[in-house]
Amino acid sequence: MTDVVLKLSARDLLHADLASCGWAGSDHHLAGVAKQLERARTGEVDYLAVCPGTDIPVAKGGVDYQVKEGVGTLWQLAVHPALQSCGIGTFLVEAAELRIRNRGLRQAELAVEESNPRAHALYRRLGYVAYGREPDAWDEQRPDGSLRRYETMCTLMRKELS
Ligand SMILES: CC(C)(COP(=O)(O)OP(=O)(O)OC[C@H]1O[C@@H](n2cnc3c(N)ncnc32)[C@H](O)[C@@H]1OP(=O)(O)O)[C@@H](O)C(=O)NCCC(=O)NCCS
Repeated sequence: MTDVVLKLSARDLLHADLASCGWAGSDHHLAGVAKQLERARTGEVDYLAVCPGTDIPVAKGGVDYQVKEGVGTLWQLAVHPALQSCGIGTFLVEAAELRIRNRGLRQAELAVEESNPRAHALYRRLGYVAYGREPDAWDEQRPDGSLRRYETMCTLMRKELS
């Protein structure tokens, strides 16, 4: 096996990127991301892309500053399935935390599904501490294009940024 080193950088996700983000979810999900990019223009959220030298996103995720005052809430984090478990999610979370700190804030929070123990373990390793649980729900797109309501239970986690 040969080790290949990829140089990654984090930047704002752009509308033009969405055409190459099919790996991140359904058309319905990407339409929702497009709406979040409108909110990014007004500063309500940051929406990040992690790219190698090709400048094509291999990971994306948002920070919402309007869920709780004084808190950056990480959400919709995703790494290209072919590149998971290589450290890119860690890079993405750290880039998101830097955006929060750059706004003069010191609190990061996120919600992770109880059915997603690997993501939970990653966040714990990065210093996030569970402080509660909360139900969540969103529309999911089936392969035939129809939507169904998906309901789940999440662990709420937070981290004090140094
Ligand atoms: C959750 C998610 C964002 C994490 O991203 P990731 O790139 O896989 O995360 P990392 O690689 O930084 O860390 C995860 C794992 O890689 C391992 N790892 C990190 N860097 C590594 C490296 N350089 N070499 C080998 N392994 C490494 C970690 O120990 C960890 O172990 P695990 O495979 O047992 O889980 C990603 O897996 C994902 O998109 N999942 C699907 C969507 C999802 O669940 N989103 C989260 C919603 S809250």
